[in-house]
Amino acid sequence: MEQGSSYTSHKHDVLVIGAGGAGLRASIEASACGAKVGLVCKSLLGKAHTVMAEGGVAAALGNVDDRDNWRVHFSDTMRGGQYLNNWRMAELHAKEAPDRVRELEKWGALMDRTPDGRILQRNFGGHRYPRLAHVGDRTGLEMIRTLQDHGIHQGLDVFMEYTVLELIKDGDRVVGALGYDRERGRFHVFQANAIVLATGGIGRAYKITSNSWEYTGDGHALAYLAGADLADMEFIQFHPTGMVWPPSVKGILVTEGVRGEGGVLRNSQGKRFMFDDIPDLYKDQTADNEEEGWRYVTGDKDARRPPELLTRDHVARCIVNETKSGRGSPHGGVFLDISWVKEKIKDSEAHIRKKLPSMYHQFKELAGIDITKEPMEVGPTTHYIMGGIRVDGDTQMSTVPGLFAAGECASGLHGANRLGGNSLSDLLVFGKRAGEHAAAFATEHGEGDIDANVIGAAIDESLAPFEREGDENPYQLQYELQDLMQDHVGIVRNEADMMKGVAGVRELEERAKKARVDGHREFNPGWHTALDLRNLLIVSEAIARSALDRTESRGGHFREDFPAKDEGQANHNTVVRRSSEGSMNVSRQQIAAMSDELIDIIKEMG
Ligand code: FUM
Repeated sequence: MEQGSSYTSHKHDVLVIGAGGAGLRASIEASACGAKVGLVCKSLLGKAHTVMAEGGVAAALGNVDDRDNWRVHFSDTMRGGQYLNNWRMAELHAKEAPDRVRELEKWGALMDRTPDGRILQRNFGGHRYPRLAHVGDRTGLEMIRTLQDHGIHQGLDVFMEYTVLELIKDGDRVVGALGYDRERGRFHVFQANAIVLATGGIGRAYKITSNSWEYTGDGHALAYLAGADLADMEFIQFHPTGMVWPPSVKGILVTEGVRGEGGVLRNSQGKRFMFDDIPDLYKDQTADNEEEGWRYVTGDKDARRPPELLTRDHVARCIVNETKSGRGSPHGGVFLDISWVKEKIKDSEAHIRKKLPSMYHQFKELAGIDITKEPMEVGPTTHYIMGGIRVDGDTQMSTVPGLFAAGECASGLHGANRLGGNSLSDLLVFGKRAGEHAAAFATEHGEGDIDANVIGAAIDESLAPFEREGDENPYQLQYELQDLMQDHVGIVRNEADMMKGVAGVRELEERAKKARVDGHREFNPGWHTALDLRNLLIVSEAIARSALDRTESRGGHFREDFPAKDEGQANHNTVVRRSSEGSMNVSRQQIAAMSDELIDIIKEMG
């Protein structure tokens, strides 16, 4: 029998949970404000989904097209998010992203350059002008490298391979967290005056995903259990291009940068099917015939964009339509071809290898495909959740005092759909803001009290899988959940399927109470999986219930039983909250009226 209510205690002004771009940026800022900062990473430092934003960071620097500025970026972000965004966040993001990118460069990030030595920017879906500052197709990696290098010189206490199990409250306020180190399975209590959640996404709730094993919705679930609101959980981004073959790598991201560099999508008949379905909303910006849509050179001011660069929700659905109509590629996707640019540029092979080095390597090594000569096979993959912890736009504080959130686990900036590259700028802008305001909260409020009984109870609960009589296998439960979500709350949804989804999640919740693991706490992946399961089940239920509540199609939420937008639902966010009895409640929260200045910008941008 496992015994273990002993634990090691740590004390910090600010505890940051999650060490991807948002967590690192928050830690750097809190530390710069004078706070003693603890940084907890589930995995090794630097291993984060941030690296999966490969194609670039969005910031209206105007280096490639001088018509770009924060007003256009704001308006594109709102349009992409179908106006469900927290407009204050969209405003701050568009205004502050350029400074955050330049600051990163000052800290050592090496970006690709224009011929006259400025930061180069490329096209991406939904951005009116070439806006994505990039490092080939390794932008997220370069950002993490830079933030990590900068961060470790700020005197952060880094806890690698730790997982947080519970947030601890004193009255309404969060005052600490209980976690364990994954290697030895020992418990740790982190006392903190303020906590920033930056745990990323929920991709592991789905079978096909670009997310790696860490992304089990931990921050979303911790916040929910602590009484915070979650918002917009119905909006999941299925990135149009993940690998579909071989099966062992299904879901791995194929950067939108491929399309930004001129890659085109074709069906099995060789047709560029994206021309068949250009939404009215985008007709002014998008080429509607092949002749116009040949563009591949980033920075060409006069050409309209090819339809492959429409927003991700739209491109993903067009791909599903092709495969469902029997015009897919041999392994259930469609073809993405960048090799065709040989018709347009000299030495195209060297050009592709220079602009897309990781894609070249990924397809060569994993699929035996040379992308400079042949097309790739791609299909949608669960990539990002727009929904998350509801935060104040300026401070990033959640509805629970002392609890902040930044990056993917926070909601607001992206509304119903995120534009590519806005995730990287999001985590820089709001990571900084969360760190700054968490440090201020910590100074103002000081320490709270931690109740030892609460910790004892949480430890007992986490050790329960060792004690149980039941015979449920946590891996099997996780696998069944991923299947359920993929099939019932996926890209194309309807009421009957989602009802089955909710019922299925509830059933799995009951079975999870009987999940049993053998062995002891020292590196025990079965136990880790059993603990992650609670979080995955919470976020899955929140997604399914929110999706049922929104009886229309908008952004990343598409319902075949309500395929149109409903203007009556254009003004609310879906909010999920835990009731005092522990049940999940879904409600609708009216979006605050936008300032006149911002309304004018949107009107002006058409
Ligand atoms: O396609 C990509 O490179 C992904 C970028 C993003 O998610 O922002």
